Amino acid sequence: MAGNRGVVYQGAGRVEVQDIAYPEFELKDGPGVNPANVGRKVPHGVILKVVATNICGSDQHMVRGRTTAPEGLVLGHEITGEVVEKGSDVEFVEVGDLVSVPFNISCGRCRNCKERRTEICLNVNPDRPGSAYGYVDMGGWVGGQAEYALVPYADWNLLRFPDRDRAMEKILDLTMLSDIFPTGYHGCVTAGVGVGSSVYVAGAGPVGLAAAASAQLLGAAVVIVGDMKEERLAQARSFGCEAVNVAEGDPGEQIERILGSPVVDCAVDAVGFEAHGTGKDAEKEAPASVLNTAMALTRAGGSIGIPGLYVTGDPGASDEAAREGSLSIRLGLGWSKSHAFFTGQCPVMKYHRELMAAIMTDRVQIAKAVNAVAIPLEEAPEGYRSFDEGAASKYVLDPNGYLGTG
Ligand SMILES: NC(=O)c1ccc[n+]([C@@H]2O[C@H](COP(=O)([O-])OP(=O)(O)OC[C@H]3O[C@@H](n4cnc5c(N)ncnc54)[C@H](O)[C@@H]3O)[C@@H](O)[C@H]2O)c1
Ligand SMILES: [Zn+2]
Ligand SMILES: [Zn+2]
Repeated sequence: MAGNRGVVYQGAGRVEVQDIAYPEFELKDGPGVNPANVGRKVPHGVILKVVATNICGSDQHMVRGRTTAPEGLVLGHEITGEVVEKGSDVEFVEVGDLVSVPFNISCGRCRNCKERRTEICLNVNPDRPGSAYGYVDMGGWVGGQAEYALVPYADWNLLRFPDRDRAMEKILDLTMLSDIFPTGYHGCVTAGVGVGSSVYVAGAGPVGLAAAASAQLLGAAVVIVGDMKEERLAQARSFGCEAVNVAEGDPGEQIERILGSPVVDCAVDAVGFEAHGTGKDAEKEAPASVLNTAMALTRAGGSIGIPGLYVTGDPGASDEAAREGSLSIRLGLGWSKSHAFFTGQCPVMKYHRELMAAIMTDRVQIAKAVNAVAIPLEEAPEGYRSFDEGAASKYVLDPNGYLGTG
């Protein structure tokens, strides 16, 4: 049996690459594994040799110690791989297939899956609806920032790339299908972005940049990206977005200078609960800041897409209420403008096939938009550090040398 190496959370601010167990077709006990999931048989699963696995802002919430993630958790929910073994119940996926894994784990059998709401599958996580690999409160499925990873319900979950050679040519784009490209796209779809829309995207991290590229793909007339990190704003400008530095003041005034009006059709929150304030408060955390800005900016009758993550427990929150995920949201403002809000994980499976086609036909340059940078698995700790410092890059780990970093 092959060995395995993976990225392991070691407590606030620390990740290490360690020897971990090679996957079997059974969920074993381990850090964060819900007792009801221990011993769960996975004959419907496959084992992947990981081709590419990305570091995400969602991982950073855990690594910064802002969640209740247990030490020893193997991280990684953005996985692209080659099938090397299949369980006895797998019918249609074959050894040798190159596949993208939606970060949401779903069963394909429950009410929500049948309604394409794979982000809130009822059968994979005893803690709550919805699940993901390598993530706190998500049932304990082992993460994929590793050489090998187990994917349950493989016939249902996996998206197969039809042509291996052509896929490998665009692998840095295709690796974004496991999360951030569908997530950014979902943010825009739920915000109602269409031809001619004006769009404000809060956050110029990888999800914000993916949302901005998605807004362009959907036909937006003007895409304005806000952040306080100049390097990330420059990345947004590099593919035709307008950019506003929210540390320089209220985004509304800056948007008025661009559009001639402080109102946008659609807003996307690609920041989440670790949001900072704007203007003179840009140094401080203000978890409701982006949501309140979005309500102030969005036209009456508009929608706000909220892929940015909000939690039910934040041990590092700046105030007592926020420790339980209660934020000072100005709901009255949104109510008075009849706003619609869309929250939750992105149901990746709803979008990944179409977005794969957009990549393969050069309709979108997603790796370029988010500045994808491949690094060896063993350099994951440096990748996490640099991403945390605000590098304008999306780090893609290369555990088996497919990306040529080794
Ligand atoms: N819903 C989903 O399915 C899903 C999937 C992936 C990621 N996420 C979440 O999306 C969010 C973004 O992910 P990411 O990888 O881009 O993270 P990131 O941390 O790299 O980016 C967040 C950016 O927001 C900026 N920011 C902070 N306060 C701001 C403010 N008031 N206005 C504008 N910008 C502000 C930060 O400077 C940073 O550049 C995270 O919360 C992540 O957990 C959700
Ligand atoms: Zn992610
Ligand atoms: Zn389900």
